[in-house]
Amino acid sequence: MARPVPTPSSQTGLRALKALLRERHPLAALRVFYAETGNVFRIRLGRFNPIILVGPQAARFVLVDAYEHFRWRNDYDPVTELLRHGVLVEDGATHDTLREIMSPPLHPKRFSGYVTTLLRRTDQVSAGWQDDAVIDMLVEMRKVTLLNLLDAIYGVDFTEPMRLLWSSILTLIRYISPGLWMFWRGAPAPGVAAARRQVDHYLYELIRTRRVAIQEGRASTDDLVGQLIIAGLDDALIRDQLLTILIAGHDTNTALLAWSWYLLGTHPEAMRRAREEVDMQLGAQLPNVEQLSQLRYLGWVIREALRLYPPIHLGSRVAAEDLEFDGYHIPAGHRVIYSIYLTQRDASVWPDPDVFDPERHARGAQQVPFAWLAFGGGRRNCLGAAFGQLEARAVLARLLQTFELRLVHSSVHPHMGATLEPRPGVLMRVRRRKGAMPLPE
Ligand code: HEM
Repeated sequence: MARPVPTPSSQTGLRALKALLRERHPLAALRVFYAETGNVFRIRLGRFNPIILVGPQAARFVLVDAYEHFRWRNDYDPVTELLRHGVLVEDGATHDTLREIMSPPLHPKRFSGYVTTLLRRTDQVSAGWQDDAVIDMLVEMRKVTLLNLLDAIYGVDFTEPMRLLWSSILTLIRYISPGLWMFWRGAPAPGVAAARRQVDHYLYELIRTRRVAIQEGRASTDDLVGQLIIAGLDDALIRDQLLTILIAGHDTNTALLAWSWYLLGTHPEAMRRAREEVDMQLGAQLPNVEQLSQLRYLGWVIREALRLYPPIHLGSRVAAEDLEFDGYHIPAGHRVIYSIYLTQRDASVWPDPDVFDPERHARGAQQVPFAWLAFGGGRRNCLGAAFGQLEARAVLARLLQTFELRLVHSSVHPHMGATLEPRPGVLMRVRRRKGAMPLPE
């Protein structure tokens, strides 16, 4: 007979609260719950009382073994309300069909055509950096990732729309972040309707003009917009996919890049090694896909940043029926969360789990299946995992090639937004290096 899932005791709750206040983020409280209650526990926050599962076995259970017995879609969540029928929030055959349509532009065989775009857009943003200025990498990396994504994957220059839509995009991201909605269904969401109207207007206009251009034989159908149009989807369904990728494809890489700069900034030896590798292997030349993939140390830095601060730090599901994991009963209809953050800091798998040690990835520690799951796993793993890693390599390598960067202050904490972000920001002093090759016109 399966046991009910335990709730942390009130003493544990008190210690969790202290950890939260000390470290200024709820993940600190979750760590106390895990340490004192075990790898299956339930938290109670008003109406929000999910079952939390931790560890490689638990991840495998949710992502693979019991895949068919979970649903993703939860109509109660703002993300479902905003993305409507986006691939991220659909289940079953609808999900699988959308995923298939959307995969080609994100497939590595397209990547050689994307690298110049990624380098060019990175240079476009860094062109605005004055020597010795202090810049916030959290903000600057968002500009880079938006321009990159829309140019490479949607085939559009997003420079001007980004200026107009910037605050609307941030409003929508705040809307789908943890917040009042967890306790209060229908909680007010100021500014969201207007932000959604603005972003929708842009997306519907993009779809309309592209349809005409395709009909007139003036546009390629290779990018995501083209693929969705030739698949025969209506405008509303295309809008849902474009908004899904717009958010899922840039907010995550913004966080990854910002954390990578923070970690390099707080570990000058790692910054020196990463730069040396870039200098040795690329010199002042512009890299291609193969050269980027050969930056081994930079690859470990990215993997380690994703381990310590996974931008998506959890996966949420709904149990479609009564289930049992590790002797515990999971009732049908219950929200289940697999914790990427706790699994990737699990001391039984990761020695010195809180230490930034890129080279641990050379030693193979990540080979325990489902111990490193920054991109999820199984049939719903991240659709943009390969693109995200290519972009991170391209942006980090290009900026290391062209700038000296020094962290100005190091007191950041992980903020649980739609992604895990370094707040209040990552301030760095930048100085242009001499001799890096400019991009050809
Ligand atoms: C550092 C970058 C990224 C990280 C850490 C990340 C992480 C993740 C994770 C953990 C999941 C699975 C969540 C779950 O199990 O519920 C996921 C799903 C997804 N990601 Fe990413 N992601 C990143 C970049 C991207 C990019 C660049 C795109 C698109 C261009 C993208 C599009 C998606 C989509 C569409 C899904 C849903 C897949 C499905 O349900 O079939 N992501 N991502």
